[in-house]
Amino acid sequence: MIKLGCIKYSGSYVLSLIIGVVVSKNQNEFRVPLVPQHVKNLIKVGFSVVVESQCGKSSDYSDEQYQEVGAKVVKKRTEVFQKSDVILCLGQPDDLDVKASKNKTSFIGLLNPYGNKEHLEKIVSLGHSCYSLELLPRITRAQNMDVLSSQSNLMGYCSVIHAANIFKGIFSMMVTAAGTIKPARVLVIGAGVAGLQAIATAKRLGAIVHAFDVRPEAKEQVESLGGIFVSVDENGTSADKQVYAKEVTAQYRQKQQLALENILKTQDIVITTALIPGKPAPKILTKAMVELMSVGSVVVDLAGASGGNCELTQWGKDVEHQNVIISSPYNILNNVAKTASFTLSNNFTNFLTTSFKNGWDGTATDLDFEILNAVRIAGEILDGSEKKIQNFEDIKVLKPKVVQHKKSTSTKPATTGKKEANNKKNAKVVKNPEVKKNVKKAKQDDKK
Ligand code: NAI
Repeated sequence: MIKLGCIKYSGSYVLSLIIGVVVSKNQNEFRVPLVPQHVKNLIKVGFSVVVESQCGKSSDYSDEQYQEVGAKVVKKRTEVFQKSDVILCLGQPDDLDVKASKNKTSFIGLLNPYGNKEHLEKIVSLGHSCYSLELLPRITRAQNMDVLSSQSNLMGYCSVIHAANIFKGIFSMMVTAAGTIKPARVLVIGAGVAGLQAIATAKRLGAIVHAFDVRPEAKEQVESLGGIFVSVDENGTSADKQVYAKEVTAQYRQKQQLALENILKTQDIVITTALIPGKPAPKILTKAMVELMSVGSVVVDLAGASGGNCELTQWGKDVEHQNVIISSPYNILNNVAKTASFTLSNNFTNFLTTSFKNGWDGTATDLDFEILNAVRIAGEILDGSEKKIQNFEDIKVLKPKVVQHKKSTSTKPATTGKKEANNKKNAKVVKNPEVKKNVKKAKQDDKK
């Protein structure tokens, strides 16, 4: 039998954090934040996992697979909230779920921090904590937790496959007895993570690929993938200290449109991925520019959720304008939900095991404060060692801020040697009556 929240450590039973996963209430979300492969990793380092039955159904992970690796599968959604210390989220939890949660729950995941701030504020005011992984600093140490990169990379891949399905031609050049078929021409606007993967995927399918980005440093990356960089006769914007692009001037925008107009007439497919974090997506393709494109051309706009890069984009719809299709799927990652869930789950597991690696036994001295400070919207760190509340205005300041990272930055004194061993033995993080019951039962079982 699986005993939630109870593990054997250094010869004695200690309380562990319970991680919960529920079925997404969003009809347009097929991903699951934790897959069975990673449940095993979490349990190995001392977490317990409880999942709602069918949570992995739409991404092809079965209840049996979760059970096999040690997760407790429960039928009732509310049971997950009542048991868990940490809820992994794809989106903000709604009022009902928050109400069902136990005291001081930590909601960790994709919380859309720039979206409904008031709702997050409300959750925090109830005593819960929110950790939004969209706010992770883009530093080497956090690369394996970088949810934006893992998902953008797959979005880039999906955008090309999606365009190929709508486009009524083929991508690669073919010389056949029935004639020579010309390769498709693809223009990628925005050469960040998604754009670069779109370039690589379109190249692999045999297309001729042009790409454009406001950051001049993107030129080298585009060319290294075999793409042709579209240059604008003026300096665009360099990335800020956090590697993101800034808004361009009106003068630059005019020149950018001119450069794009010249090339658009010859393109079959345009994939747009341009984003500026925390702001509406830049409008790059105007209606007049779409009208320059030839019959049967396809625009796939990955920026639909932020307002779109094309004036004609309607998020979640395929719009036809003068025989050009402008497509902006709600969640293009649903087409690869299994893989997208795997990569997300890997990111979340790395975040939990790295950031809270000692958190479960109550002797946390090694929390990664730089990462935690960046993603914590408000609330306290799981072991209660820091209670600094940040307000939302701080989010933008926090992102580029480098927090001094010392192993001993915990407000608790670092414990060593015998003292640490004693702490581990007496460790208690979770004040959950059910968990305490499990510890007692486990001790009794052990004696038998
Ligand atoms: P993003 O998703 O915020 O934006 C996508 C792309 O749109 C960016 O390349 C941006 O320059 C471009 N863009 C913005 N406004 C534009 C406009 N008006 N016209 C054309 N393009 C426009 O960015 P993403 O993909 O998340 O990556 C941003 C940068 O961060 C890239 O240089 C990437 O290589 C880097 N990065 C660094 C990581 C690390 O160091 N750990 C991890 C991931 C990305």
